[in-house]
Amino acid sequence: MRKLTAQELRRAYIDFFRARGHAEIRSAPLIPEHDPTVLFTTAGMHPLVPFLLGQPHPLGKRLVDVQKCMRTDDIDDVGDRTHLTFFEMLGNWSLGDYFKREAITWSYEFLTQVLEIPPERLYVSCFAGDADAPRDEESAAIWRSLGIPPERIYFFGKEFNWWGPAGKTGPCGPDTEMFVFTGGPCTEGRDGECDPSCSCGRYVEVWNDVFMEYNKTEAGTYEPLSQRNVDTGMGLERTLAVLHGYDDVFRTDLFMPIIEQLEALSGRRYEDEDRRAMRIVADHVRAATFIIADGVLPSNVEQGYILRRILRRAMRFARMLGIDHSVLPDLATLVAQRYGEAYPELLQRRDTIAHEIALEEGRFLQALQRGEREFERLLSRLKDRQISGRDAFYLYETYGFPLELTAEMARERGLTVDQAGFQEAYTRHQELSRAGAELKFAGGLADHTEETTKLHTATHLLHAALRLVLGEHVHQAGSNITAERLRFDFTHPEKLTDEQLARVEELVNQAIAADYPVCVDEMSLEEAQARGALAFFGERYGDRVRVYSIADFSMEVCGGPHVERTGQLGHFKIQKQEAVGRGLRRIRAVLE
Ligand code: SER
Repeated sequence: MRKLTAQELRRAYIDFFRARGHAEIRSAPLIPEHDPTVLFTTAGMHPLVPFLLGQPHPLGKRLVDVQKCMRTDDIDDVGDRTHLTFFEMLGNWSLGDYFKREAITWSYEFLTQVLEIPPERLYVSCFAGDADAPRDEESAAIWRSLGIPPERIYFFGKEFNWWGPAGKTGPCGPDTEMFVFTGGPCTEGRDGECDPSCSCGRYVEVWNDVFMEYNKTEAGTYEPLSQRNVDTGMGLERTLAVLHGYDDVFRTDLFMPIIEQLEALSGRRYEDEDRRAMRIVADHVRAATFIIADGVLPSNVEQGYILRRILRRAMRFARMLGIDHSVLPDLATLVAQRYGEAYPELLQRRDTIAHEIALEEGRFLQALQRGEREFERLLSRLKDRQISGRDAFYLYETYGFPLELTAEMARERGLTVDQAGFQEAYTRHQELSRAGAELKFAGGLADHTEETTKLHTATHLLHAALRLVLGEHVHQAGSNITAERLRFDFTHPEKLTDEQLARVEELVNQAIAADYPVCVDEMSLEEAQARGALAFFGERYGDRVRVYSIADFSMEVCGGPHVERTGQLGHFKIQKQEAVGRGLRRIRAVLE
């Protein structure tokens, strides 16, 4: 197997598919621009949903990229050999162009010829079929024709071989997954029957080819899509680990420099009980660097809250490694340097990233001190020699005290902590937040109803009006649209006066009354910026971007969709303004 570096693997993948007619697109930002239903981009296909549903992509029907992704559902599992929050997904797409034969053949060629994975170590799985869709004999036949014998082709149901929709509704379909057998005994004791679906981890899934030919509807039915797409995703971290024979993704060159830095700073080795803490710090600092580079700052809401959580968790684990001074800003700079070639935005924003992390460290230190005072107060109320699970969880939730820290402080005073009670409170809380997360997802991706489309256009008008009234320092920091309202976060240091709010509202309503056409152009990002278009969380759609202009009032790079004329919007009304963090304000508004 070829022992490529991370950057070599990224390039090899892109070059392979470019040679087969695919246009390279740049990674979309980690923060979905017009998808109110999720906080982060979770898969390579996520920013492409409008195109999978039929909107023509400016760069054609064959695309390839390396997409920045973030998944927070497994955050508490980070620390083992494989779980990550941030990861990179290599992907190639056919938007109504080629289908199973080409996709599978190219996957096989890339794995065996470019990566030189011995064919006898490859295992694949296909969809077994059910009431919604037939058994995928076609994919299995293609695998056999390429030389994978039937005994290495498995059929599983929806729980393994069906992908999507990413939300409640949207494009989805059967998939075929590729595994590399890494050897060793089955740790689940299933030696004779162990197969790629086993959780022992001997079969490492490296790639997933999804054949998106269905659209899941609100009613839960599967309807054929107007175009048949291919969506593939290869995990960069895992594939690298496999190529180098590591069973631990943190040993790859994506993480080792960070780990080595942590070893030097702590004087400890990447071994035994310190390994978990080092992995957590490395994963979280990498994710935080990418999130800040895409325009998010630590706060108590949405993406800002996740960022705060992972930064504080990284700080706690750095302390557990015996590091009691500020190290995260330097580690973030190291990440920016290591990843700068593939993601230039990290280098451009490296100083901001280090600065924001340093500020957050200071705030966390204060919270820790307040937590220590709260701990003393708790002790004075203690009836027996034990701190209750509820109190320990309160310290954890409010002051970021890990259970280990509370237990250690308790021990110093000859007390214990009700650890089972803590776990109970913790699990209850997780169930609640999971229910919240599901609710958030329930709207489905690409919820482009008439109402949300209108509110997208209204958001552009609001943004332009804010800049006219308050000044050019106003920048979009976040946007969230539901069918009922828009919510817009922007940079501005103080509360808006009533006059300012009224003026903003008036400007938007004037633009609506003027019934301006909403025009869209495609151009290079450089050209868009040269023309003065506003562009926020980085770039989309490779070298070509869409620019929406509304007379000389507003010009923004955006994926759309938008109404055709502003007159369609109705009456714009600001409902309220709030502060959402230092230097950040939020406006909620509706169309009546
Ligand atoms: N969407 C699929 C995945 O996330 C393939 O890209 O695995």
